[in-house]
This record gives sequence, structure tokens and C-alpha cells, in this order.
Amino acid sequence: MVKPIYDVLKTDHDTHRDLLEKLSQTEGDSPERQILWRKFYCDVSAHAAAEEESFYGELITTEKGQPRARHSVAEHKEIDDILQELNDTDMSPPGWLLRFKTLRHEYEHHIDEEEEEIFQRAHKTIGEDENGEIAREFLTRKNKERELETQKAEGALEA
Ligand SMILES: [Fe+2]
Ligand SMILES: [Fe+2]
Repeated sequence: MVKPIYDVLKTDHDTHRDLLEKLSQTEGDSPERQILWRKFYCDVSAHAAAEEESFYGELITTEKGQPRARHSVAEHKEIDDILQELNDTDMSPPGWLLRFKTLRHEYEHHIDEEEEEIFQRAHKTIGEDENGEIAREFLTRKNKERELETQKAEGALEA
């Protein structure tokens, strides 16, 4: 039995909060930072893509939910830009952590807003997702994204 989408998203957000906290305590180009960053980068990218397709895909079809859905998708784009930038930048100089702090701030704001404001709106418009239908859609897309990431990483190693 799949849980409602709200629980599934919240669980992911808590994982991301935890990774952000751990990452903030890492230094330079350490293996620890690399491993945590890879985890965070892959999971947040897959989460956002799946969230857009399932949760926001539903919310955007409702009159009251549409502005919120658009706002969040725009934030995903901004967050993704910083994610890519950090992913392409050398981790050794202190500038990396500085930029990471901006990402942390933006991302935490984003997920707090999702949980505190957008979920409330969604409860009233798209409902409770008691049977986990939206959650299943989310999980299927997220798994697909993760597979693509793995293939890409393997391709990069072979090249
Ligand atoms: Fe989001
Ligand atoms: Fe989210």
C-alpha cells in the first residue's frame, strides 16, 4: 500500500534536509563531500522532475492551484541552475561552500513553502490522495529518473 503523495514528498524533503545539514559540515574536495553531494544532487533532481509530473501536474489543472504550481515549477528551475553550477564547479575552494549555502537557503525555503502552503492548497483542490494514486505516479517517474542518472554516470565512466 502506497502512502498519500503528501507523506511521500515529506519523507523525501526530510532526507534532503538531512543531507544539506551533513554537507554543510564537509570540507574541500573530500570523498565525504563528493558522496553526499552525489546523493543530494541525484535525489533532488529526480524528486523535482517526478513532483512536476505527478503532484504539480494535478495541481496545475485546478483554477485555485495553478498559480502555486507555476510558482513552484519556476523555483525548481532556479534551484536546478544552482545545482548544475555546483555540480560543475571544483569543490576545493571556499567559494563552493559559499554557493552551497545559497542553494541550501533557497531549497529549504522551497520545501518549507511546499509543506506549509502548497500542501494545504492541494488538500482543498486535488484532495487527500488516500489510495496513493498520485504517489504511485511520483514513485514510478522518480525511479525512471534515477535509472537515467545511473546510465549517464556509467556512460561517463566508459567514455
Ligand atoms: Fe519542489
Ligand atoms: Fe518537493
